Order: sequence, then structure tokens, then C-alpha cells
Amino acid sequence: MKILVTGGTGYIGSHTVVELLNEGHDVVIIDNLSNSDRKVVDRIENITGLRPVFYEADILDKAALDKIFDEEKIEAVIHFAGLKAVGESVEKPLLYYENNISGTINLLKSMNEHSCKNIIFSSSATVYGTPAFVPITEECPKGTCTNPYGWTKSMIEQIMMDQCIADKEWNAVLLRYFNPIGAHESGTIGENPNGIPNNLMPYVTQVAVGRLKELGVFGNDYDTHDGTGVRDYIHVVDLALGHVKALKKLVKGSGLSIYNLGTGQGYSVLDIVKNFEEATGVKIPYVIKPRRAGDIDTCYADSSKAEKELGWKAQRGIKEMCADSWRWQKNNPNGYDE
Ligand code: NAD
Ligand code: UFG
Repeated sequence: MKILVTGGTGYIGSHTVVELLNEGHDVVIIDNLSNSDRKVVDRIENITGLRPVFYEADILDKAALDKIFDEEKIEAVIHFAGLKAVGESVEKPLLYYENNISGTINLLKSMNEHSCKNIIFSSSATVYGTPAFVPITEECPKGTCTNPYGWTKSMIEQIMMDQCIADKEWNAVLLRYFNPIGAHESGTIGENPNGIPNNLMPYVTQVAVGRLKELGVFGNDYDTHDGTGVRDYIHVVDLALGHVKALKKLVKGSGLSIYNLGTGQGYSVLDIVKNFEEATGVKIPYVIKPRRAGDIDTCYADSSKAEKELGWKAQRGIKEMCADSWRWQKNNPNGYDE
């Protein structure tokens, strides 16, 4: 299949492109490089021996999208492009609503006009808000998001649902990711946040490599086994493989499908510190800090629907996730900057 991957030089996108190429798909990437580096294309080629087509362009530029759909015979789109920093979204909501929602509407319009009506979308467990129950199944009601970033995911899901109802030729798969960490085993592609990391694992690896002094643990008075927040961490390669499996739902008459992609196993912040230390031999100094606004105590997935319907199940354990995150960070202490 010829697949357009928006945001394909980003963290999850790049790992998915590798797995798509490994499966024999043709890949076209569009990315504006606002949060990624063009070197990623070379690294994907080094890993797979295949070079994806790369367009440096913005999904807000409808004419650029139309040109790509004119030039390439795209059969399906995997849509990763978006801004994702929770704190920044609170400060700059209009930027987030415009980039993520207007960008997606441009993409859907261009797809419609070129009769390409198959899409997989990067959604998030954040759409469940404070979950009504755990483990979270897809039946769990969507909740109140605590930030504009989360609302963009929730609203884009709704837009895709409405489009699938309006036009039965459309097929959409909404993948609700839990917490992606890890990196390709080659250690040549990985997560490369701008500035001080917001997320736990890149913070831990930057402490390990000496770029940051110590980890701040946000709260130790949650209702969890050790008082720190519990999440469902999933290896980014398992997540990438979930997208390859989801392609099979993009067939005539499928309409809209929703899947949680997680492991079903929750780990606390201190569990992550311990597993990281055991997997790498590197000590992570930490201090307990106040709770971070908007955080919930526990979030983990029931992903049995994806197993049953897609034949997908996460295979990689927490130690492998920690070791692979570390290999990437150690080999690339400054990310893609030489
Ligand atoms: P990322 O920032 O590494 O990748 C996103 C890519 O999109 C970047 O390469 C960026 O340059 C590009 N991009 C942003 N706006 C664009 C635009 N207007 N036009 C073209 N390209 C644009 O992020 P990621 O972690 O790989 O996340 C990928 C997707 O998965 C995002 O939609 C994110 O919201 C979603 N998601 C991520 C997580 C997570 O924890 N990483 C969890 C749930 C969902
Ligand atoms: N944490 C710390 N210290 C840090 C960073 C995080 O203690 O420096 C804690 C948090 O309080 C939380 C856990 O580590 O308990 C995980 O935090 P992350 O920021 O890594 O992840 P979140 O679960 O808060 O959110 C992430 C993404 C969201 C996405 C969500 C579900 O940032 O965009 O997973 O997919 F919506």
C-alpha cells in the first residue's frame, strides 16, 4: 500500500515508518520539522535500506497537501502531525486548536477531494479524562480533558466519527495511545523533546546522561501502591506495529473503529526509576515535588479489543523499554544535534 504519514519524522511517526517499510509498504512523509529533524529520513534509510519520500510541508497549507495527493497515489493516511506539549497548549490554546484541528480539517478535505478515504489517527488516553474505571476499555466514556491539547484529540475524534457517518466510503481507525517510551533497538531514532522534557522517560534519560541534575517526582500522596502516579508505558516499536496491524481495518465498509494501545500493566514513577536503574546500571537521583496540575493517579489500558480484532498485542517489557530509551539517549546525548 502507498501510505502518507503526516508527522513521519517525529518520535512515533519515524518508528512507524520503519515498520511500514519493513512490511513492504511505500511511504510518503509530510512534516514541517517544527518538532523533528530531517536527519531522521537518513536514519530510517540506514535502518531499513529503503528511503521514504519526504516532503517538508505544513498540513495547514492545503495547496501543498493537494499537490502531494496529485503527485502520489496515496491509498491511506496515518496522521501523526500535531503539537503535543500539554503545558504549552494551556498557554497558547489558539496555536494548538489551529495547528491540530485546522490542520486535520485541511487534510480530510484534501483526502476527500482525491478520493482517499482511509485514515488512522493518533489519539490518546487523555480523551478519557479522569477515567470512570480502570483498566480502561474503549467503552469507558470520554471525559473532561484538563487542557487544550487533550481537547484537540477529543474533538478530532468527533470530526472523524461525523465524517464516517456522513460518507460511508470513509474508514477511520482512532488509536488511543497510552504512554509511549523506548526507542528502536538500533539506538539511532528516538524521542527528542525541545527544551526541558515534560514527560517522565525523557526526563529520566536526560538525568542519566548528565544533562539534568535530578528527577522531580510529582506527588507521592496518590492513591497508588507507593503514592506516585501509575501509567501504562508502551514500547514505541509495539505502538508502531499497532499501526501496521490497524491498516487491515481500512477496508470497504469498516467505518469507524477505536482501539486502546497499551500493555495493560501499570507502573508508578518510582517503579520506572527502579526498573531504569536495574536495566541500565545508572542511578537516578530524585526529589519528591508537589503534584502537577491536571495529573490523575492511575491510568492503564485494557487492550483486549486490539488483540481480538487486529491480532495485536504489546510484546516488549518494561526493562527493554528502559534499556532502549537509554541506548538512544546515550548514543545521541543531544538528540539529532551533532
Ligand atoms: P512528535 O512531536 O515527535 O511528532 C509530531 C510531528 O508532527 C513532528 O515531527 C512535527 O514536526 C510534526 N508537525 C507538527 N505540526 C505539524 C504541521 N502543522 N504540519 C506538518 N507537520 C507537523 O510527537 P509524537 O510523540 O511522535 O506524537 C505523534 C502523535 O501522537 C501526535 O499527534 C501526538 O499528539 C500523539 N500522541 C503522542 C503521545 C506521546 O506521549 N508521545 C501520546 C498520545 C498521542
Ligand atoms: N512525572 C514526574 N516527573 C516528571 C514527569 C512526569 O513525576 O518530570 C510523572 C507524572 O506526574 C505522571 C507520570 O510521571 O504520574 C507520567 O507523566 P508523563 O508526563 O510522562 O505522562 P502523562 O501520563 O502525564 O501524559 C502522557 C502525554 C499526554 C498523553 C498521555 C496519555 O504527555 O499527552 O500520556 O497518552 F495524553
